[in-house]
Amino acid sequence: MKVKVSRKAHFNAAHRLYRSDWDLEQNTAVFGLCSNPNFHGHNYDLIVSVTGEIDQETGFVMDMKVLKDLIKSEIEDSFDHKNLNIEVPEFKNLNPTSENIAVVIYNKLRPHIATEKDIEVVLYETPRNFVTYTGA
Ligand code: NI
Repeated sequence: MKVKVSRKAHFNAAHRLYRSDWDLEQNTAVFGLCSNPNFHGHNYDLIVSVTGEIDQETGFVMDMKVLKDLIKSEIEDSFDHKNLNIEVPEFKNLNPTSENIAVVIYNKLRPHIATEKDIEVVLYETPRNFVTYTGA
């Protein structure tokens, strides 16, 4: 019997979507407002879910306090109120799209959560646009 537990989190961050090998016109055509050369911010909402067996001693799939602290130390402390392109090393050479941010979040959390548990990262860039990564 497997159960999925989820924790919501939040961070504000600035970014710019662009390719340095494209000119401004092409970047604007593909990335729109998100390619503003002066950057812009998003209020990101994050839902991290962990799926696994219920521990028979505790009744938990995972201690939510541990998950909360992990999201804080690994994600919020690194991303919140940061310019992702400039201040977060993972995006030095990686376009900070929602897709890529979700993958980076997954990869930062994965080593800290027991391997027999599955992780799902859902990242909202806006209330209507969100992406999901499960490590596949
Ligand atoms: Ni944007």
